[in-house]
Amino acid sequence: MNSQEIPIEHLDTHIPENTPHYSKSILDNEVKGIHVEHIAISGEQAIVESYDNGIRTIYLFIKGSGKAEAEKKTYELVPESIFLPNAVEKFSIKSVGGEKLHFLKISCRLSDQDQKNLAELPIENTQGVYFAKFSDCQSYSEAIKSPNTVSRTILSNEYIPRTAMGTVQTKGPDQVAAHKHPMLEQLFLGLSGNECIVYADDHQVAFPPLSLLHIPLGSNHSVSVEEDEIMYYVWMDFFLDQAGERWLETHKVNMDA
Ligand SMILES: [Fe+2]
Repeated sequence: MNSQEIPIEHLDTHIPENTPHYSKSILDNEVKGIHVEHIAISGEQAIVESYDNGIRTIYLFIKGSGKAEAEKKTYELVPESIFLPNAVEKFSIKSVGGEKLHFLKISCRLSDQDQKNLAELPIENTQGVYFAKFSDCQSYSEAIKSPNTVSRTILSNEYIPRTAMGTVQTKGPDQVAAHKHPMLEQLFLGLSGNECIVYADDHQVAFPPLSLLHIPLGSNHSVSVEEDEIMYYVWMDFFLDQAGERWLETHKVNMDA
């Protein structure tokens, strides 16, 4: 079979103390229009970010604690939280406590069509800050997953055109059954305790915490976890066009959770 290996990159969490601001591109040029950076900061100095009209940026906090300030509000940054500044002109992020604050900064370039589609989304989703802890996000079910699996939508497709994210959490033995979605590019980020195997066509890769992998576009892929191990990762869907977002209709919101 002519298939592609699964690109994976492990985030370096052993940054020297004397490096107050570390930044590295992760899986560079893997997904068109998407740039992922691993950033680790420490010390009193805040990094100040400003808005770029052609880009929407998602921050996923994965290790350490911090604070974000935007529009006179403060957000407590903890591992496994998402911060989306949307169209806020200026905001700052800094670490709190002795430990470095590690996060992924995911920049999504908006096409002209995306800009038009953005204007159609609920205005409360696209202007001010969206912040959530993963554990507080809405859970959903899906046919390819077992009833033991907890899946959550951490970013619905109504914030950034052609973009959605969520988490998958279960204990082994379990699996996410094989499936294909040629309408979207998919990245997975391993969260705390994650020890599973990702398969795509005739390739497989060990998927540990704090690693980012790219599911080859259109591949038949699945995820398995052995007994006594945990599956816990973020999926990130980047749809090739707006019509592809119908894939998300396979996610059924849990009304009782
Ligand atoms: Fe998938």
